[in-house]
Amino acid sequence: MRRKFIAGNWKMFNGPKATSEFINKFSAEIKASPEVIKAVADGSEEIALFVPAISLTAAADGVKELPVIIGAQNCHWEKNGAFTGEISVPMITEVGATHVLIGHSERRHIFREINEELNKKVQAAVEGGLVAVLCVGELLEEREAGRAFDVIREQFIEGLKGIDAKTAAEKIIIAYEPVWAIGTGKTAGNDDAEEICGYIRKLTAERFDGETADKIIILYGGSVKPENTKGIISQPDIDGVLVGGASLKPESFIQIVKNAL
Ligand code: 13P
Repeated sequence: MRRKFIAGNWKMFNGPKATSEFINKFSAEIKASPEVIKAVADGSEEIALFVPAISLTAAADGVKELPVIIGAQNCHWEKNGAFTGEISVPMITEVGATHVLIGHSERRHIFREINEELNKKVQAAVEGGLVAVLCVGELLEEREAGRAFDVIREQFIEGLKGIDAKTAAEKIIIAYEPVWAIGTGKTAGNDDAEEICGYIRKLTAERFDGETADKIIILYGGSVKPENTKGIISQPDIDGVLVGGASLKPESFIQIVKNAL
């Protein structure tokens, strides 16, 4: 049985003060939810928050007594250097974060990050001890042109170059986020989401092996809300969700965490 992985991606919301306020409220929600505490304690569910770089310290300090994982939204592949505006893997681990998003569609399409760079980031992240959440997903025009599978394959294969099977199973999570479903209120139909997540599992078996494919955690993201969580999470190849807007309110995020149990 694979564990469930329920993650919020705050994008460019919540500075350190708002982060501490969120965590205080979210802490109360978790403490009032024994079923969540039990699921996290027995390893069947993980809860993660991917917060802005400037809020990582506040977040990691805030969750010290809570079963919540903290992650960064991006990293550079070098440890130090003349890379103005960037943060490195050792900096992320130093503040107590354990995970990092790599290749979110906003990084790919607004900041023009390419597979080759994303692969360097994935390698640096896992070498530095982080779990890398590699995001993949097609644009609407790519889907309409019948190219969704090809785009996913290329992002997956190129993004995971140089990664071995053990690392893939233990240190990589794949998040499928169709770009047309992000922030639009349009969720991929459960069948469409499952079709691509099943394809990603098949790709994992081809690129690594069957055991790795059984183990790897695959998430769906794009307009996930408390109301659609159950339907999404009940798909056989979807192990969790990566939530944008609905993770910004403790009340809706805890509801997603509960509905995924
Ligand atoms: P929304 O849940 O706001 O659509 O964002 C999805 C996303 O991009 C999560 O990484």
